[in-house]
Amino acid sequence: MNTTASNDPDAETRLTFPDGFVWGSATSAFQIEGAAASDGKSPSIWDVFCRQEGAIADGSNGDVACDHYNRYADDVALIADLGLDAYRFSIAWSRVIPEGTGAVNAAGLDFYDRLTDALLDANVTPVPTLYHWDLPQALGARGGWLARDTAFAFAEYTDAVLERLGDRIDTWTTLNEPFVSANHGYVTGEHAPGHTSVAEGLTASHHLMLAHGLAGERIRSMAPDARLAIVINFTPLAPATESDADRIATHHRNNLENRWYSDPVGGLGYPADTVAHLEWDQAEVHDGDMALIAAPIDLLGINYYTREMVSDDDSYELPAGTPVNTMGWEIHPPTLGSLLREVDDRYDFPSILITENGAPMPDRIRKNGRIEDDDRLDYIRDHLVEVHRAIADGCPIEGYLVWSLFDNFEWAWGYAPRFGIVEVDFETQQRIPKKSAEWFSRAAITNGFTVPDRSPQRG
Ligand code: FCB
Repeated sequence: MNTTASNDPDAETRLTFPDGFVWGSATSAFQIEGAAASDGKSPSIWDVFCRQEGAIADGSNGDVACDHYNRYADDVALIADLGLDAYRFSIAWSRVIPEGTGAVNAAGLDFYDRLTDALLDANVTPVPTLYHWDLPQALGARGGWLARDTAFAFAEYTDAVLERLGDRIDTWTTLNEPFVSANHGYVTGEHAPGHTSVAEGLTASHHLMLAHGLAGERIRSMAPDARLAIVINFTPLAPATESDADRIATHHRNNLENRWYSDPVGGLGYPADTVAHLEWDQAEVHDGDMALIAAPIDLLGINYYTREMVSDDDSYELPAGTPVNTMGWEIHPPTLGSLLREVDDRYDFPSILITENGAPMPDRIRKNGRIEDDDRLDYIRDHLVEVHRAIADGCPIEGYLVWSLFDNFEWAWGYAPRFGIVEVDFETQQRIPKKSAEWFSRAAITNGFTVPDRSPQRG
């Protein structure tokens, strides 16, 4: 990067990314597809959870969402118009094997077949995720992720998907954010299935990782040329004060949130001192499990949104004036840079893809029919500056996928948070690219962008 100081207030520097750098966007099945009962799909644990009183802030559900199931062809045309190289989506298990195990629903697979072909025809690389939280309710009823059998059912489902799509996909990602599945689903109860038990969270975490390991084995054998990946979220943490209590709390939360999933994949096992601290007897961990989980991956998907300060008694509050998004998450781009360097140093995975990064913003300003979301544009640009720097420092980062292509169903928050670079009018299902989409499109097409030399993030 050219860092020559300049006195010209309008001076700009152009950042160019390495040849082949992947620019793309991400979504997930439950958040956009709708068509909740079409073509043989069964309910997922999220279809059921949405019906629980008080579970979703605005009482909404995923029945229609962005109606992407019916509008995918236009949506792919839009992705291609934006000039994006890749599109990350997830596959709904409950469309493919409605009962969780057993009969494969060909009509459900047909949808992903059509979507994959449409993307390939448009020169957009499909990046499917096999599990983005929407477990078939049939398996939920049999214990969900508390049951070891669910991991084997996931391997069976992986087989069915690979058999249909395995000839056309370069990169398979197994799970999305297993921490959130285990923690929000089983410990805090904010997500489906809404349980609140630390012990259950530990059990679920291991069965999720076992599912990753077993699916990885299937992917290796059915698509030996494809790349194997998992998507893990990282929220870097720092103690709110120097007190022992805050430092210890930070240490264990960091192990549970930021290392619990990546350490086993990286061959380091579950963080031992936190296993002891939680008095987890690891009865769920059978011989051979950890080796399966540690089988080499080709690519780590990193989801990053924010950092957090930790106080032992949960009393910490962000100082007034701290930049935040509409969900109250601090905006702190340099943390993405340090995270990328740390993950690369700790694990040395062959490649890293930013599989999610983005922000919900107020989206109140509209000009000529289009949302002028300079705040989101700045967020994306400032994080990409950090990615560019990390690449210059030697991190093997192959691309950046913005979360999200569309405004969509944001889980327990419902439809209020707007993450899209493309606005969705949920009355008419009209899609209107925001200013950030135009900026991102230009960055993708030209493989870079300019930053003002006076940008606060540079220095
Ligand atoms: C991540 C999820 C994704 C989306 C973003 C905002 O945790 O993977 O589905 O909800 O957060």
